[in-house]
Amino acid sequence: MKVYLKRESIERHKTACFVVGAFEGKKPEGLAKIIDKKLNGLVSKLFKDKDFEGKPNQTRLIYTQGKIPAERVLLVGLGKEKEFKIEKLRQASGNSSKAVRDLGLKKFSTALAQIKIKKVSDPRLKHSGASYEVSKAVTEGAILSLYDFTSYRTEKREEIKRVDEIALLVEKEDKEIKKGLDDGVKISEAVYIARDMINHPANTATPTYLSEQAKKIARKSGIKCKVLDRADMERLKMGALLAVARGSDEPPKFIIMEYNGGKKGEKPVLIAGKGLTFDSGGISIKPSEKMEEMKHDMAGGAAAICAIKAAADLKLPVNVVSLIPATENMPSGKADKPGDVVKAMSGKTIEVISTDAEGRMILADALTYGERYKPKAVIDLATLTGACIIALGYHATGLLGNDNDLIEAIKKAGEKSGERVWELPLWEEYEEQNKSDIADVKNVGGRGGGTITAAAFLKKFAGKFKWVHLDIAGTVWEYNGKPYIPKGAVGVGVRLLVEYLKGVGSKQ
Ligand code: BES
Ligand code: ZN
Ligand code: ZN
Repeated sequence: MKVYLKRESIERHKTACFVVGAFEGKKPEGLAKIIDKKLNGLVSKLFKDKDFEGKPNQTRLIYTQGKIPAERVLLVGLGKEKEFKIEKLRQASGNSSKAVRDLGLKKFSTALAQIKIKKVSDPRLKHSGASYEVSKAVTEGAILSLYDFTSYRTEKREEIKRVDEIALLVEKEDKEIKKGLDDGVKISEAVYIARDMINHPANTATPTYLSEQAKKIARKSGIKCKVLDRADMERLKMGALLAVARGSDEPPKFIIMEYNGGKKGEKPVLIAGKGLTFDSGGISIKPSEKMEEMKHDMAGGAAAICAIKAAADLKLPVNVVSLIPATENMPSGKADKPGDVVKAMSGKTIEVISTDAEGRMILADALTYGERYKPKAVIDLATLTGACIIALGYHATGLLGNDNDLIEAIKKAGEKSGERVWELPLWEEYEEQNKSDIADVKNVGGRGGGTITAAAFLKKFAGKFKWVHLDIAGTVWEYNGKPYIPKGAVGVGVRLLVEYLKGVGSKQ
């Protein structure tokens, strides 16, 4: 898909469809007002008759009948002007793009990057960087909303509707607007790759597949990439990861990616992502209902791979390392069993209470491996606990950590990117629940506070580093479809991490 800037007035711009935003109110303003005049008051009439009121996510198609060069105008609601936020713009861009796609059009133009805002609640829209944020949001909303996973459809492929060109119509072409568009394209590309990896079924997206993808991405984006196999893991004594991998015939992989955009010798940010390509539960097998969803248990790993790709593509001035322990969790005669005690790479012994609590095991060894980088911050992402869905539902990623500044920085990045996080407490008292009678720690802390005890387990392996854990169990998958997130894999975490890494970069 090509997205580009075009400087042209509405009186001259020829297009099959022209997307125009309108705030909620009694009458059209800005561009909508100009179009209203050209169309002899049609837009005003729509407002007056309440056929279109500018409510968020509302769209209305108008045929211009030769009164302007654009064949159609698609009005899209932006909601109340004083409640306006960048996230609303991203959503409006998403909704309008999908509406155009569903009309079967292949090309369209959008004026959403031209919106004029007088009263806003979003502070970013008041300073000079506003045009960057605006064009980035319009670009992201459009591209992300049009994602479609069609790899396995062999029938009626000709019926698949696809947009291949979007013009952002602007009044002036400044550097900020251009950079917003370019960054939006690169970030969306990274999210697309993450979504693809997660949507692919586990018979395609094996640990080997993930490692091959990581290598390919690394080659293209100028990232270093190394993949450890079972023998390397044995040498490193990654006993926790190996215990999980033991039941599967698919060879496990440990993916290491390094991007050095920062100063030489500057400590990196470490990202660790759970790359469990299929979680059957192992011997503590899951119920068969919805087990197919467990192909998405590698989404943390996908985010770690794609966030470092985006950081490299944006040339962020920061050093980043991504670590992805990748394996299946399967039952077999060789699988680890409840009651087994295994020795993690750190030397700590773990009593396996449930083989289904495997995410924390593989991440434990990834965190220990990460110590060699002496990272300035560690962020792990994992579809770790069903309990997180019980606690927060599907609209927030669970966040827990040991450093307030890092926690605040991630929260801020969550608000900015629209990938929101919500903090849960990680008080010492919770650690009691993970005490084992025979080993240093057990991998399940009982019924209460499952997301917290899982994080408390990881905390033991995060050492003394500044660390944040993100539980994406509730945010990994979209069940209904949102304005710019179609049904299926969300690619959650990529935009959040990029936003965070931008902040790190600017401080150097
Ligand atoms: N991958 C699952 C968590 C999960 C569940 C993610 C539902 C997304 C949707 C994880 O490995 C798991 O099975 N966790 C167990 C932990 C329990 C045994 C302590 C769970 O949540 O039930
Ligand atoms: Zn599990
Ligand atoms: Zn799992």
